[in-house]
Amino acid sequence: MSAKIIDGKALANEVKQQVKGEVEKLAAAGIVPGLAVVLVGDDPASQIYVRNKEKSCQELGIKSEVYRLPATTTQEELETLIDRLNADPHVHGILVQLPLPAPLREKEITDRIKPEKDVDGFHPVNLGRLLRGEPGIRPCTPAGIMELIKASRVEVKGRECVVVGRSNIVGKPVFHLLLQEHGTVTVCHSRTPDLVTVTRRADILVVAVGKAGLIDGTMVKPGAVVIDVGVNRLPSGKVVGDVDFSSAQEVAGAITPVPGGVGPMTIAMLMKNTVEAVLLQYG
Ligand code: GUN
Repeated sequence: MSAKIIDGKALANEVKQQVKGEVEKLAAAGIVPGLAVVLVGDDPASQIYVRNKEKSCQELGIKSEVYRLPATTTQEELETLIDRLNADPHVHGILVQLPLPAPLREKEITDRIKPEKDVDGFHPVNLGRLLRGEPGIRPCTPAGIMELIKASRVEVKGRECVVVGRSNIVGKPVFHLLLQEHGTVTVCHSRTPDLVTVTRRADILVVAVGKAGLIDGTMVKPGAVVIDVGVNRLPSGKVVGDVDFSSAQEVAGAITPVPGGVGPMTIAMLMKNTVEAVLLQYG
């Protein structure tokens, strides 16, 4: 049996069309959503991500301002820019592309963004709201993962969910979102001694580690929903996920491809968060 491929690109387009409708409604009320994106240094992957975010904004009628700063930017300069964007009424969302080059202190920058403009959902206030199950801006990739699971038509409630990876950006927020949907959730990480025993229990398996081929078909429960968050560039230049797609798709019930799965959904959810940030700021 071959798994159903969950088409992240198609789902992202649906989300973006909904967001476009919201943007048009705001435009009729004289409001143009504004997103400020800050990119420090010249990391090639970050440059591609930022360009894609800019392109999506253009498609949807969101005004994007991209600040491309040199890697030599100081902490003080970056903080001054954040303060200015926090105070700018035309800027509804602020995103600082991570990772920041050393020696910039990422955490202090994340904490400085006003929570209501934090479209990444990384500010401690927004993460605290997530932990308490209160409304708030959710991190984009985890929110996109939940939409992809929904699209697979498998209910989270009562299911065994396994998250591989415990990052602040993906693993931990996904854990909370699945828990909120009443899943029984286990988080595995680099110190988990017997990964395969745990992953084979999963009705819903989310893998976000950054290691090509970490999970293969022998580690997947027959019929499981597999969400592959990894983006790994092989020496050949080919981009693959953390899941060995060809063996996993023989076993899984549904699986996201890389590319074309989680990636497009992250950007779509960022667009959605930007409109949500506008609504938060206008009450
Ligand atoms: N770098 C990798 N993923 C992300 C993300 O979701 N947001 C930001 N700001 N930087 C990232």
